[in-house]
Amino acid sequence: MQPGAEALTPFAEPLSLGAHSCIAYRRGGKRLRISVIGCGYVGLVTGACLAEIGHHVVCTDNDESKITTLNAGRLPIYEPHLDKIVEQGRRAGRLSFTADVPGAIRSGDTIFICVGTPPTETGDADMSYIDRVARLIGAEARSPKLVIEKSTVPVQTGQQLKRALAVYGRNGGVTFQVASNPEFLREGSAVADFLHPDRIVVGVEDAETEKQLREIYQPLLERRFNCPVHAPSCPAGAAPPFVVTTINSAELIKHASNSFLALKISYANALADLCEKLDADVMEVTRAIGLDPRIGPQFLNGGLGFGGFCLPKDIQAFIRLAERAGMDFALLKEAERINKQRIAVLLEKARKALWVLKEKKVGVLGLAFKPNTDDIRFAPAIELIRQLTAENAQVVAYDPAAMPKAREVFPALRFAKDAYEAAQSADALLIVTEWPEFRALDWKRVHGAMARPLIVDGRNLLDPAAMRGLGFEYHSFGRPG
Ligand code: UGA
Repeated sequence: MQPGAEALTPFAEPLSLGAHSCIAYRRGGKRLRISVIGCGYVGLVTGACLAEIGHHVVCTDNDESKITTLNAGRLPIYEPHLDKIVEQGRRAGRLSFTADVPGAIRSGDTIFICVGTPPTETGDADMSYIDRVARLIGAEARSPKLVIEKSTVPVQTGQQLKRALAVYGRNGGVTFQVASNPEFLREGSAVADFLHPDRIVVGVEDAETEKQLREIYQPLLERRFNCPVHAPSCPAGAAPPFVVTTINSAELIKHASNSFLALKISYANALADLCEKLDADVMEVTRAIGLDPRIGPQFLNGGLGFGGFCLPKDIQAFIRLAERAGMDFALLKEAERINKQRIAVLLEKARKALWVLKEKKVGVLGLAFKPNTDDIRFAPAIELIRQLTAENAQVVAYDPAAMPKAREVFPALRFAKDAYEAAQSADALLIVTEWPEFRALDWKRVHGAMARPLIVDGRNLLDPAAMRGLGFEYHSFGRPG
């Protein structure tokens, strides 16, 4: 289905999706038509999932190669379950991709903005992509639009967006509503997170916009959709809270959530360093403190720290936002500082064990910033490899999903076909990403393959006693030995 026609398709018949058919949506007797601008991780998952729950979705991107890839039936990213729902959406005629951005803008009555807000050199979020999209929507819209920010943006972006839409809106009669609807998707489980959210946050200014957003998310609120993650049926669960706030609050909620998660990880890492000094075990400590429901067990894993395209840039942007509002958010600055040291801490462990890194063969297991993704943006592995090669170590890297992307960054790096090849004749193996397959390796075989059986486990993935039992010299974070 190609966008372009402003008229909405009249509702014909219920969408038939089998036993747990999702409900079909009517809006003035017509199907809800949604455009998603930006086909990155957020846009693709959002578009595909909205189509999966019954809406008609057109996704667009100004990167034509992405659209060509998608229209050829391939995905530009790896994300579990995404291939299946994209394929289903396309086959059902509810999901399409186009490089015609103006056409996509005109065809949707609701537009999700999912373009990037990368960090600038100052740490602020770069708002130029959002600005460009806002101007384009203003210029191209021929009918009323609900414009929803899904990209992570600093507080008061909604106000700027409203201004830009009004200023660049060329067709006098066209009205725009603006809403903020932050996403809380984790890469690697984004489809599951979209379909089973902890909460749906909408920042709105009027009751009609709130109603439209409720309509969009109704299948999730009523838990009536075909779940591709838990097929044939989902575990029972309560409906997610639908949290209605002002636009400013919704924008702040997103930055505040990610910064809090970053804070928690850095706290665990500081604890890990202290445990090492005091001969305690950080995993025992975090397990016990995490049993307190006020603290919770998640995001307390010590090791190499947080990477990816969200936590590092969002904490930076939040610090800058606070600064511009006249507040020194020193608490977050410290969390960021702790995180930036983690690679140096790992390298120091490797250096201490190997004495000299130069000419040593070092196997790096894991390139993605976390398991189940091929995303290497701000991945600790990237900086680690840069520093290892700067010291003239001979690096051989392996990752189950991220090697194609890593090759673009390190064209001259040696990549192994599997973890065993990375271990072959290595003087050390560094575990950088906690892929489950690394835990399940035949470590006896790895031991036999290495020139020197030395492991520095940057994610506390393996059991120290078991590894030492196999004859490895094993170092991890915050655990005795
Ligand atoms: C994060 C948030 O978790 C999502 O809620 C949010 O929607 C998303 O950012 C976003 O803003 O789009 P994500 O970046 O996919 O999601 O990954 P996380 O699971 O949060 O992990 C971030 C980093 O923290 C990874 O490098 C991970 O290895 C690291 N981490 C995580 C730790 O070092 N220790 C932990 O205990 C947990």
